Amino acid sequence: MTVTKAPEDAYTAEPFVPARGGLAALRRAAAGCRGCPLHREATQTVFGEGAAAARVMLVGEQPGDQEDRQGRPFVGPAGKLLHRALAEAGIDPGEAYVTNAVKHFKFTRDEPRKRRIHKAPTLRETAACGPWLAAELAVVEPELIVVLGATAGKALLGSSFRVTEVRGTVLEREIHGRPQRLVPTVHPSAVLRAEDREGAFRGLVADLKVAAHALG
Ligand code: URA
Ligand code: SF4
Repeated sequence: MTVTKAPEDAYTAEPFVPARGGLAALRRAAAGCRGCPLHREATQTVFGEGAAAARVMLVGEQPGDQEDRQGRPFVGPAGKLLHRALAEAGIDPGEAYVTNAVKHFKFTRDEPRKRRIHKAPTLRETAACGPWLAAELAVVEPELIVVLGATAGKALLGSSFRVTEVRGTVLEREIHGRPQRLVPTVHPSAVLRAEDREGAFRGLVADLKVAAHALG
């Protein structure tokens, strides 16, 4: 007898996504997602947070170390920076729905200190997790999506997405069969890594102001 292994392309969250129910039902189901291998090493699923009635949805890459421990998106250093930038741009984080393209933390360990180092998800993992983001979008129906960096951009707009080409502009695209406005910008972690951190922060705020203006 031959044992055939499922092809890696079979990675998908699809069978775990409930056909009906609101955000609470999605969150409960996502906690048990085994749609790709990332659930194995991570502590827990980090689902999106915010009201179903939120006008704006912010989409990041994937949870980081702190998010993985606490089970909440954007609570670590990048999240703190994002909240400062949102406040400066005049967007109330309490009125936003905040989520990630990928719901489990991917990392490697640096050997001497065994710290967990963030590792970018592959396109395949991002695609596998896509049904959760699609389900969140279907419930929240945001007026605007703020796309934080390349992974979120590729997840929503395809692999040709280049953040430098479109950041700070209002895009109009069809996303999962629905017309959608999006404002892409850099990922807050990129601001933390930038040599000119203040300049990078100002750039993020400027892009978020475009989003604030588009929301009216
Ligand atoms: N970076 C992200 O993209 N998302 C988080 O939730 C935290 C850091
Ligand atoms: Fe499921 Fe996404 Fe986690 Fe993969 S990363 S197991 S698809 S929730």
